[in-house]
Amino acid sequence: MSAPSGRGEWSSQLGFVLAAAGSAIGLGNIWRFPYVAGESGGGAFVLVYLICVAFIALPVMLLEISLGRATQKNPVGAFLTIRPGTKWRFLGFLALITGLGILSYYAVIAGRVVAYCVTYVQILVQGGAAEYQGTTTGTLLYFAFFLVLTVLVVVGGVQRGIERWAKILMPLLLVTMFGIIVRGLLLPGSLEGVKWFLMPDFSKLDGRVVLNAMSQAFFSLSLGMGAMLTYGSYLSKKQDVLRCGTWVVVFDTAIAILAGLMIFPAVFALGQDPAMSTTLIFEVLPKVFAEMAGGTGVAILFFFLLSVAALTSTVSLLEVVTAYFVDELEWPRSKAVWVVGGATLVVGIPSALDMAGIEALSSLAVFGKVGFFSIMDFVWGNLSLAFGSLMLCLFGIFVWGLQRASAEIESTSALFPKIGGVWRFFVRWVCPLSIVIILATLFGL
Ligand code: PHE
Repeated sequence: MSAPSGRGEWSSQLGFVLAAAGSAIGLGNIWRFPYVAGESGGGAFVLVYLICVAFIALPVMLLEISLGRATQKNPVGAFLTIRPGTKWRFLGFLALITGLGILSYYAVIAGRVVAYCVTYVQILVQGGAAEYQGTTTGTLLYFAFFLVLTVLVVVGGVQRGIERWAKILMPLLLVTMFGIIVRGLLLPGSLEGVKWFLMPDFSKLDGRVVLNAMSQAFFSLSLGMGAMLTYGSYLSKKQDVLRCGTWVVVFDTAIAILAGLMIFPAVFALGQDPAMSTTLIFEVLPKVFAEMAGGTGVAILFFFLLSVAALTSTVSLLEVVTAYFVDELEWPRSKAVWVVGGATLVVGIPSALDMAGIEALSSLAVFGKVGFFSIMDFVWGNLSLAFGSLMLCLFGIFVWGLQRASAEIESTSALFPKIGGVWRFFVRWVCPLSIVIILATLFGL
């Protein structure tokens, strides 16, 4: 996405779907979904996740896109356009902080993905089977590298160029994933993993699992921090919000499920622990590649494509924050991007050090989460996105008015007039109440 001079518009429906899908599809699907599913006990989590996607996240997605399209603004500007001077703009600021918070640790994992890609290239060139050893300096450098890459893309306004590439590369990522899935399924004992992933065991359900599922739906679909709002602001008044939003949700969910099928059969076949948390895919996939004919090549391809998928997501995170400084404070674009990128670097350093195994950071414990990195992921990725989505619904209900929101979607959707009432019911009751109940359970209320 780029809107360097004046506000751009997607030239076609596909332009928006590609960019929004680019934001949605990323480490959230392939790294976070399996790790959270692993911690949350498998099948029952997956079922709750799918329910949350359909009944909570999709309605919020439509609300967010339509608010963006109606106002043609960044998150703060959108609230101010609907009601000038409103206190709701603080919600916009929260969105910006959340974006920065997520970017700060997301880029650490993205850096690790690049590191794996580079390591496999070294293995290919020099032979041997050395595993990637995440040294402290290495982790910091790869993290900084990924952040600078994101900054350069956003400064250059070449997001659309990247998205055009992603259009070719993402299908290739799917094909590569299918290959890895097949290899994993051929390992003896893999069916246990399939069962564990797809057959709900309801005894594993509790408040924390439900919160994880709901938050993962928001995280994976880039909801609750204004990314979809910002992308929606570039959507032309002629395009169908319902169709676009639904496509993004379908693509994104399909990739998450495939990622689960790529990881868990192998986890069980190889006797690994599904609940090993944030390092899950990095522990398991190399072992699958080692079993594969041409595994090194597949590994390079996979980690490269995953880096591209991560880049289209980090770009969206940085873009949202940048758009505020450019639109509202009239900063020059490149200044805004570098300042935000620099701040993110500073905020992300402790996460990187935790990933590199610095004891003082990896032994921190709050909210039942251990390690600085996991705490960041919990606070921004779980709590803040859920809270942001809740507040967005309340804004829709009490300030903007769901009738007006509906009219915005209806104006271009042939189907929406028939289901607009259902949508309003979900945004008015189902989404806010479920989010409140789930958050309240978490805090033991
Ligand atoms: N949805 C992205 C992913 O799944 C991450 C993201 C979250 C991007 C929130 C923007 C906003 O990788």
